[in-house]
Amino acid sequence: MSRYIALVPAAGTGSRMGTEIPKQYGLLAGKPMIHHAIGALCSCSRIERVYVVLSPSDAHWDGYDWSEFGERLYPLKVGGETRALSVMNGLKEIDADSRDWVLVHDAARPCIDHDSLSRLMDEVSGEDVGGLLALPVADTLKREDGRGRVLETVPRSHLWQAQTPQMFRHGMLQDALSKAPKEQTDEAGAVEALGFFPRLVQGSPSNFKVTWPQDREIAELILTSRRC
Ligand code: C5P
Repeated sequence: MSRYIALVPAAGTGSRMGTEIPKQYGLLAGKPMIHHAIGALCSCSRIERVYVVLSPSDAHWDGYDWSEFGERLYPLKVGGETRALSVMNGLKEIDADSRDWVLVHDAARPCIDHDSLSRLMDEVSGEDVGGLLALPVADTLKREDGRGRVLETVPRSHLWQAQTPQMFRHGMLQDALSKAPKEQTDEAGAVEALGFFPRLVQGSPSNFKVTWPQDREIAELILTSRRC
């Protein structure tokens, strides 16, 4: 039986957030952002282990108490220069068979919910390749000319916004990422480059990536409302 394992790349600096502390450690509803992402993954009983990839120079992780997650949580200080390298380095360290499923989830998506996680596992576990949470694009899209003006309108039909987790078999993901450029921003892109077609699974708007300072307020509202 294939196991489910989560891998959380958390070795970024989050420079767009403009804070001194890396964004995954910024407080949201009283806890570091990454705590919420880990909590959601650990609360899913089908996920056997949650590995977190930290920067080798991470000076924050040890300052928090993670004991509530017990033995299922494993920090790995093997982060790389880019997200793809962090994931790749993490995959080399984790205890998994080639056919085990790995769910790669951004530390910067703290509002992932249980239903979306279950939907992803239910819909993808019968697939050969794997898949990802994503949202059909709702807005009209414009391509910019590089000078702040519209160059063209991009038809939004059949366009989806990729989210995480992205779920692939350990062996395939390692193979795909080893061949991908280090700037590759998601796992699915690396798998697509091998000629495969990952499954798109409906995500949720609340599972957005906290990137800009104003995103924090929205994430905090979502997390606080779930406690009520
Ligand atoms: O920077 P961005 O928001 O795209 O990062 C997405 C995720 O990848 C974050 O959880 C971040 O910590 C992680 N990351 C990483 N190693 C890097 C860069 C980003 O683990 N070198």
